[in-house]
Amino acid sequence: MKKQFLIALTVSATLLLPGIVQAHGDGDAAKGKAVYEGTCVFCHGAKGKGEIPGTPDFTQADGVLAKGDEVLIRHITDGFESAGSAMPMPAKGGNPDLSDEDIENVLAYLHQAFGS
Ligand code: HEC
Repeated sequence: MKKQFLIALTVSATLLLPGIVQAHGDGDAAKGKAVYEGTCVFCHGAKGKGEIPGTPDFTQADGVLAKGDEVLIRHITDGFESAGSAMPMPAKGGNPDLSDEDIENVLAYLHQAFGS
């Protein structure tokens, strides 16, 4: 009885562990989706094409997502306004609770969901 329990425990730990380890890696797009839907979707839209004037179309080839990740992380974290823009991107999308990890995750989601 006790031995069977131990075997079951070992098997479930082996199955669960890769998921846990992966969750701590850089840029988890699945987690980023939750961040996007909680903070970014109101302005950028579920399809990433922009809901309000001044937001870029993420799906455009050679669009803003083609800028390097380092630049994009900085613009998401600190906010960003391009020349002649109708509206600036607020720092952290206006959600100060977002961590650096949340921002890496949401950027991974942008790339996965909207391309480039
Ligand atoms: C209040 C509306 C609003 C929210 C919320 C918002 N954005 Fe933005 N975002 C903008 C606007 C407007 C721009 C374009 C700014 C410009 O070009 O001047 C922009 C630009 C961007 C860009 C392109 C930056 C660049 O270098 O050109 C990225 C990437 C981005 N947003 C990601 C996000 C992410 C990720 C979130 C959620 C954490 C988010 N945005 C939340 C309005 C918003």
